[in-house]
Amino acid sequence: MVEAYSPLTKGTRLDHPVVQRVAQALGRTPAQVLVRWCLESDLVVLPKSTRPARIAENAAVFDFALGAHKTALDELEEGLVTGWDPRDQP
Ligand SMILES: NC(=O)c1ccc[n+]([C@@H]2O[C@H](COP(=O)([O-])OP(=O)(O)OC[C@H]3O[C@@H](n4cnc5c(N)ncnc54)[C@H](OP(=O)(O)O)[C@@H]3O)[C@@H](O)[C@H]2O)c1
Repeated sequence: MVEAYSPLTKGTRLDHPVVQRVAQALGRTPAQVLVRWCLESDLVVLPKSTRPARIAENAAVFDFALGAHKTALDELEEGLVTGWDPRDQP
């Protein structure tokens, strides 16, 4: 299994216009959209939050689907690295 590393982009892309548009269309939050994208991409996803309300929000992703929005999110790949880059030699 592949695990999503920083599945919420450490918060740096939650305001991305496409993520925002999908969230608005589905009546969900940007974080829920990103977690759902991971699930629908067969990735293990462990979003992190220090806030109980956000932990609950991030877990409430099993009652909706991205449907046609999945493709728009797939196309957002930009090579973003938020931490350690596995392509670098240790
Ligand atoms: N063992 C491994 O192989 C492995 C691999 C990758 C990552 N990890 C761990 O997995 C955890 C998650 O990764 P990460 O912290 O790098 O990145 P992340 O989950 O992408 O992002 C966490 C950030 O998003 C914010 N956030 C969480 N839920 C949110 C929401 N609903 N709305 C808005 N902001 C939200 C958090 O702030 P608040 O806390 O203020 O809510 C925090 O700043 C980390 O503990 C990381 O070390 C482990």
